[in-house]
Amino acid sequence: MEKRLIYRSQPFGFDTAMLAGILSAARRNNPRLGITGALICRHDIYLQLIEGPAEAIDALYARIVEDDRHFDVRLLLSEEASGRMFPNWAMLDDTAPSLFWSAQDVAAGALEAASPNALLAPFIKLSVANPGG
Ligand SMILES: Cc1cc2nc3c(=O)[nH]c(=O)nc-3n(C[C@H](O)[C@H](O)[C@H](O)COP(=O)(O)O)c2cc1C
Repeated sequence: MEKRLIYRSQPFGFDTAMLAGILSAARRNNPRLGITGALICRHDIYLQLIEGPAEAIDALYARIVEDDRHFDVRLLLSEEASGRMFPNWAMLDDTAPSLFWSAQDVAAGALEAASPNALLAPFIKLSVANPGG
């Protein structure tokens, strides 16, 4: 079974070197795990979608939760998926123009309150804008 998962977290001292380190691990590991996805990042938030074989996704998420480069990791969506949104991306990165929640909205819990469709919306926008790999 394939699944798709979306979580949010708060970066610990967000900077470009840290982001580069995270992306390089993702791009090194994900292809061999059959995982694809996208990471939206801003100083106040990581919002990541990962998709692939269910066991591989659960194992990766368990590793990510333990990562000390971020905190307050919260699972927002986990669902069976019949197709991929980012088939050509080991991990697409986006520095948040596709995010429609302000830092204030995020702090006030807008993501926890969002419907599945609202959570998927920025990722749909990203996947349409970036079909290639
Ligand atoms: C926001 C965030 C997203 C991450 N995404 C991935 C990912 O997609 N794939 C991955 O292998 N590691 C990801 N990581 C890193 C993992 O937590 C972990 O450090 C890494 O998988 C360890 O792999 P390595 O032993 O090859 O360095 C992410 C970490 C953070 C903080």
